[in-house]
Amino acid sequence: MNLKQLAAEKAVEYVKDGMHVGLGTGSTAYWAILKIGERVREGLSIQAVATSKASEKLAKEQGIPLIPFDRIQGLDLTIDGADELDRGLHLIKGGGGALLREKIVAFHSKELIIIADESKLVDKLGTFPLPVELVPFAYEWTMASLERLGAKPMLRTDDESIYVTDNGNYIADCRFGEIDNPNELHQRLLHLPGVVDNGLFIGLATRAVIGHSDGSMSVV
Ligand code: 5RP
Repeated sequence: MNLKQLAAEKAVEYVKDGMHVGLGTGSTAYWAILKIGERVREGLSIQAVATSKASEKLAKEQGIPLIPFDRIQGLDLTIDGADELDRGLHLIKGGGGALLREKIVAFHSKELIIIADESKLVDKLGTFPLPVELVPFAYEWTMASLERLGAKPMLRTDDESIYVTDNGNYIADCRFGEIDNPNELHQRLLHLPGVVDNGLFIGLATRAVIGHSDGSMSVV
């Protein structure tokens, strides 16, 4: 079994009957959605929301019931991946481009369980370039503002075209080097006009399940 699948399937043990569940995005969350689908087909009764069009499609294929946002106040649990996490459960997310929807869903979840293989666990965030979601209007100026904040931003592309998120926005992948103070950087980014949100998740994750190459798992 691969490490992403190992962590994902362990986290799905926290899903209980009657819960409202957030479904993450990416190659690790994929395994969680598959496992939840299997449990639903065996009789688990849950309702879910998805953090991307891709995860919504997968959930439908798996027969997981989806609930409209206006029918519930929030979620009991969300299971999602991360690009990097530290032991304080600060995260970098958005490698798959879904950071904005993921952050909204995480914010409204009582629990956010992060699932990852051991390569994602770091002492300090910042090796993975931080995804920053930008409105397309005057994005060149917003990229220049990011540079003035100390980043080396790269506009994300997809087959030579500018990558467009599920929300119709762009993403700048920003190298800041080691991030000493994730909370401060998060706040500074949020103050830049044109920035919709960024991939730093602070104070949102409640637990992380990590799969290790020796087949063991740890919970942070
Ligand atoms: C998508 C994300 C993903 O959770 C993150 O990119 C990790 O992806 P993967 O599980 O494929 O490594 O934030 O926006």
